[in-house]
Amino acid sequence: MTRTFETVGVVGLGTMGAGIAEVFARAGLRVIGVEADEAALSRGRGHLEGSTGRAVARGRMTAEEQAALLGRIAFTTSRDDLAGADLVVEAIPEVMEFKRGLFADLDRICKPSAVLATNTSSLSVTAIAATTSRPAQVIGMHFFNPAPVMRLVEVVRTVVTEDGLPDEIAGLARRLGKTPVTVGDRAGFVVNRLLLSYLNHACALLETGLASRDDIDAAMRLGVGLPMGPFTLLDLIGLDTSYEVCEVLFRESRERRHAPAPILRELVTAGLLGRKTGRGFHSHDRDAPETAGEPGGRPEISLVGLVGGGPDAATVLEALEAAGFKAAVAEPGDLTPVAEADVVVALSDTPVVELAVRLPRPERLVGLHLVGERVAEVAATVVTSREAAETVRDLVRMIGRTPVRCGDRAGFVVNALLYPYLNDAVRMLEAGYASAADIDAAMRLGCGYPAGPFEMLDAIGIERVRDGLRALYAEYREPSFAPAPLLDQLVTAGVPGIRAHVG
Ligand code: CAA
Repeated sequence: MTRTFETVGVVGLGTMGAGIAEVFARAGLRVIGVEADEAALSRGRGHLEGSTGRAVARGRMTAEEQAALLGRIAFTTSRDDLAGADLVVEAIPEVMEFKRGLFADLDRICKPSAVLATNTSSLSVTAIAATTSRPAQVIGMHFFNPAPVMRLVEVVRTVVTEDGLPDEIAGLARRLGKTPVTVGDRAGFVVNRLLLSYLNHACALLETGLASRDDIDAAMRLGVGLPMGPFTLLDLIGLDTSYEVCEVLFRESRERRHAPAPILRELVTAGLLGRKTGRGFHSHDRDAPETAGEPGGRPEISLVGLVGGGPDAATVLEALEAAGFKAAVAEPGDLTPVAEADVVVALSDTPVVELAVRLPRPERLVGLHLVGERVAEVAATVVTSREAAETVRDLVRMIGRTPVRCGDRAGFVVNALLYPYLNDAVRMLEAGYASAADIDAAMRLGCGYPAGPFEMLDAIGIERVRDGLRALYAEYREPSFAPAPLLDQLVTAGVPGIRAHVG
């Protein structure tokens, strides 16, 4: 028997719950929004009024449509009001004890045919289902923040989920204008497993001092084309939620890289949870100044040295000459042509400091890595002088790119963050958890990425990523940075891309 979902309960009207309620009401369903007390209920109503009010202000909705939408939502503090709901979606904090208590209540209150869904970001749907007398009717329905905007819904089935229910919930997601991806019950599902590993890694890099918060954010947003840098996104998700998801990932994997970065704990303890409290990694005060790179002047130099022979070196050479600078070029084998340059820019794969120590004035050498069309990473070694690093940043601005300052470590910032994420996606595929097409769709639609990880792998080139991972592994000795066997094998087999081979 196919169910009809016309009345939906949403328990918890925080950022996610209010967004989920809005999504259902937009699609014409009746919604019962439940909060613990009057104050929380009023905040939840405020979220909904604010979000739909912005849509009206932007001309996306008329005031009448807004009133009709809000009219479809009943607000209550009594769980008993959910007795007639066809489906209840839980969106309360990520604490298993709270979820279990709620599901035991819902099981008692809701009609026998009702489906109980959890929007948990990472907790075990199976464990939540086990607290009810209807585990076959308990399922994960995982939305992404902001729920009205992000198009993905992860539908999470457990080993006891009733046959056909995942398809019914996927059908409902489509009715809401979303794209469902159905997966099994594993910590973090597809998106959070990949996303939070990357975000936690960004925190770890920040803590090592490799680069600043703003440089890392700019590198990933402008360089890779992600909609937000990692720290801006952590603030959007909420640092408390991010912490909890990492904790769950760690409990399952026991991998140190999933253990929440200490800086997350510190910020959460201080109550700096991100956007919802006005401050997390960033201040969300509207008047806070933008912290983009400082404007640079034209450097007073007569000769720029370039080390490296690839296409990036050619691009930089052309841009410098077009800007009126004199440049000398050397291959990493013989640095004589650049020995007398005022600054030397290294664009090769050789570690920057190894080149520096071969120059008569090692303090003049700076590493450079072009990322996309808009960013260049500027890597200072332990011996690079401040003047040389500043000069190269000014040169980078003059050639129309945003400089990202970082230390001289394998992968600098972008590849150190991007390649392990791509490797994790290959491992997820290898483990048989989801198909490459589903993983790609999930990251594009759940996080607004311009391309999924397999699309990125093919665009960058699998051999380049494999070699980059080897370099990262050699530098950091982090086991998860070792190239996934599947990636290694595809490179060894000489295949041109990954998607053509994994379906
Ligand atoms: N509620 C409703 N609508 C919102 C909104 C919100 N909170 N925030 C933004 N929007 C709407 C805007 O009204 C606007 O709509 P129109 O185009 O119709 O006018 C649209 O989204 C774009 O917004 P902006 O122009 O203000 O800003 P933007 O272009 O920078 O986009 C963004 C904002 C959509 C959030 C974008 O930056 C983005 O996609 N970021 C990535 C978000 C992400 O990765 N989310 C997943 C997090 S992981 C998660 O949620 C799972 C978990 O379990 C932890």
